[in-house]
Amino acid sequence: MKKTINKKAAIILALETSCDETSAAVIVGGRKILSNIISSQIPLHRKFGGVVPEIASRKHIENVIPVVDEALKSAGVTLLDIDAIGVTYGPGLVGALLVGVAAAKALAFAADVPLIGVNHLEGHMFANFLAQPELEPPFAALVVSGGHTSLIHVKDYNDFALLGQTRDDAAGEAFDKIARVMGLPYPGGPEIDKLAKSGNKEAIEFPRALAVQGSFEFSFSGLKSAVLNYLNSAKLRGETVNNADVAASFQKAVTDVLTNKALDATEFCQVKQLVLAGGVAANSALKAALAAECSKKGIKLFYPEPVLCTDNAAMIGCRAYYQYMAGKVSDLYLNAVPSVKLGSSF
Ligand code: KG4
Ligand code: ZN
Repeated sequence: MKKTINKKAAIILALETSCDETSAAVIVGGRKILSNIISSQIPLHRKFGGVVPEIASRKHIENVIPVVDEALKSAGVTLLDIDAIGVTYGPGLVGALLVGVAAAKALAFAADVPLIGVNHLEGHMFANFLAQPELEPPFAALVVSGGHTSLIHVKDYNDFALLGQTRDDAAGEAFDKIARVMGLPYPGGPEIDKLAKSGNKEAIEFPRALAVQGSFEFSFSGLKSAVLNYLNSAKLRGETVNNADVAASFQKAVTDVLTNKALDATEFCQVKQLVLAGGVAANSALKAALAAECSKKGIKLFYPEPVLCTDNAAMIGCRAYYQYMAGKVSDLYLNAVPSVKLGSSF
């Protein structure tokens, strides 16, 4: 017999396998986390200096069912209690995404509950709803991760407009590449963040691309090349480089651009709330710069705690809940879409 569902208090099981974390979470009523299990593959990929897609897919296959079991167990529920299953279907690495999508389809079929395909970037933005009970749309969102740098106008829970994104490298990608050349371990973002604390951010003037008001596009490849050239030329001349100064000056160039454009976006969208999301949202200098500018302009700034900034299934469960409430569910033909566009589930 089918159980009666109180949709508002729906219990969602969510899966995330788009890159190098295998994660499963149980979310109730959209915003309450019952469990959020994250099995990170970072130590495995570290020796290659970045994520190796084929290794990531294989590891997801090994991990996905144990991680789901643990998420259910630590939430104190069974598959019979689950009302819907959410899963990241893109953007991400195709082989990695396919593992999550196949597992979610099997679970949805076995439990006879709806399957909900979730856009990974939308999930990142929705991590803020888990962290901040008072947050409601509309707001401007800056999503900065290893694969994306985007500014989005979130008009409502299911109504988004992309304002602009990076033309080349994502902000996190630039952090990771520069860290690698400096001999720091993967992922480089947290390492540069740490190292920059003891450096002088005014020591080196690195370029800020597309720094014109009204443009919401980003470009970080020129900045990345400028930093790499600086390091290489110093090496050729036999000069010692102060890595902390390089880290701090590079980080300042990134945060200046992100901060200015994010503040411009709030003005353009005529909103008084700014939401920060994605792995780079854990960056201490970025949070400090945004907090200072937002307080000058009367904008309320939101960002999740670091564990909800980087990849996790709780954020996917939150996004899935709002799709579920709007009746936007997928079917068992759902496929991985590595370059899916924002808002395309609607
Ligand atoms: O969102 P995420 O976990 O994965 C993607 O969807 O890409 O983001 C990972 C990215 C990596 O590039 C990592 O270096 C960066 O987030 N990151 C940081 C910090 N913590 C993670 N970048 C700068 N500062 C940090 N503290
Ligand atoms: Zn991500």
